[in-house]
Amino acid sequence: MFLRLCVFLTCIYYAVGYTQEVTFYADYGLQGDALRIRSKHPQLQPCEMRQIVNMKSYCAIGRWEGYISANYTDRLEFSHTNNVTTCLNLYFNYYPISSIRYLGFSETLAPSISIYSGSNDSETGGIERTFTVESANNFGFIPTYLVLTGGSSWTGFSNEDFTGESTCFSTSELHVGFSPHPRIIRSFLKGCDAKYGSEIYEAGLNAE
Ligand SMILES: *[C@@H]1O[C@H](CO)[C@@H](O)[C@H](O)[C@H]1NC(C)=O
Ligand SMILES: *[C@@H]1O[C@H](CO)[C@@H](O)[C@H](O)[C@H]1NC(C)=O
Ligand SMILES: *[C@@H]1O[C@H](CO)[C@@H](O)[C@H](O)[C@H]1NC(C)=O
Repeated sequence: MFLRLCVFLTCIYYAVGYTQEVTFYADYGLQGDALRIRSKHPQLQPCEMRQIVNMKSYCAIGRWEGYISANYTDRLEFSHTNNVTTCLNLYFNYYPISSIRYLGFSETLAPSISIYSGSNDSETGGIERTFTVESANNFGFIPTYLVLTGGSSWTGFSNEDFTGESTCFSTSELHVGFSPHPRIIRSFLKGCDAKYGSEIYEAGLNAE
């Protein structure tokens, strides 16, 4: 009986993944025309920028960031983090945002790691690269921020060839982000193994 309950809870735990989504509404109280965004937009169309800057309420799930310039650069002007759908009445007295994206992999149940180059104003800005494979290197930058999905764990190394100082980044949550600072990460392996003698970094709780 107890085993059956555990299996049932496990199913529930794994069934609560979500698709990251934000919907902007023209009027207060989620009324009026709506613009729903479920993908990454490095360069919004002028009409979309006007719609967003004039919105008065929105609903969002996941972690969303809107930047003043294209390609997620310049000032971070809009941000929202929640793992359940949250709706707010808000007069968007913002500068128009030119780019908007959710952080990390779209499928929060799947094991993945995303790395960020950072921009002048934000450690989560700039280039984002997402990996679901067993190993990754040659990033072209030293990551300023990491996002993990699927409750996965990854070993980060200070050298390109999976050697040097290592850290085991792990989480029990479906979607967490954190700065690896001051660690320098140049390569990753999926999973952690005691043979590397890695420092342990458990992400979550206060990580977002
Ligand atoms: C954004 O990045 C793309 C691809 O790297 C590039 O072609 C484009 O010129 C960039 N746009 C701006 C405004 O920087
Ligand atoms: C949302 O986050 C809280 C706190 O980090 C966590 O306890 C909870 O399990 C998460 N829920 C989902 C659906 O991921
Ligand atoms: C970032 O800041 C440096 C130093 O102030 C500047 O030279 C560079 O052009 C800036 N980069 C961007 C993308 O704004």
